[in-house]
Amino acid sequence: MKAINLFNKWVELGKDDGMEVNHTPSVDYMFNLIPKKILKSNFTFLDIGCGNGWVVKKTSSMKECVSAVGIDGSENMIKKAISKDMTSTYLQMDLNNLNAYTDSFDIVFSMEVFYYLTNPQITINHIFNHLLNKNGCFIIGIDHYLENKPSLKWPIDLNVHMWTYSILQWEALFRSVGFKNIIVEQFGQKNDWSGTLVLYGEKH
Ligand SMILES: C[S@@+](CC[C@H](N)C(=O)[O-])C[C@H]1O[C@@H](n2cnc3c(N)ncnc32)[C@H](O)[C@@H]1O
Repeated sequence: MKAINLFNKWVELGKDDGMEVNHTPSVDYMFNLIPKKILKSNFTFLDIGCGNGWVVKKTSSMKECVSAVGIDGSENMIKKAISKDMTSTYLQMDLNNLNAYTDSFDIVFSMEVFYYLTNPQITINHIFNHLLNKNGCFIIGIDHYLENKPSLKWPIDLNVHMWTYSILQWEALFRSVGFKNIIVEQFGQKNDWSGTLVLYGEKH
């Protein structure tokens, strides 16, 4: 099944609301990694794979946020996002085909999306080269990766393709594009759960 179809169904079942509850601790941790010099001056924000828009909506309420945009391929997610947030911009787009989209931002963010993409490297290259302003930052969180053993059954359980990269492989994708001040951390480890893998990089 395509990831976008799965997440369209999740909206019908009301399961998208659970993502806000489950992802909030990791997302809060990720925002704390974003330098204050970016967050405390006027900034623009893009959420890649924004789901129902809860992160975009929260961010656009920060007084320094001058514009917030969410992109997602799921029609139901985007419809729900628009219905709950009149301030931000939501676009239904396939992240595997972002070439035509070149608006640029100070912060590009993404939570629990990149392993679904056909070619994460191509999307990361496009973000670095076209969607990020100079001195901007890119931050992603992912829960499905090789070292996080409980997540390894998800592709079969959900019947959706996911790239099961190791932490080093994800880091290599960031390094190869040219990001600076790269941070790679895991947040929320508990028992055999290895936590959210957080990757951060700056464009200088
Ligand atoms: C696990 S959800 C995360 C949503 C949101 N970031 C959150 O934390 O609540 C993954 C999202 O990625 C989107 N997605 C997956 N593959 C996509 C693609 N190729 N193009 C656009 N969106 C995609 C799905 O529609 C879904 O909304």
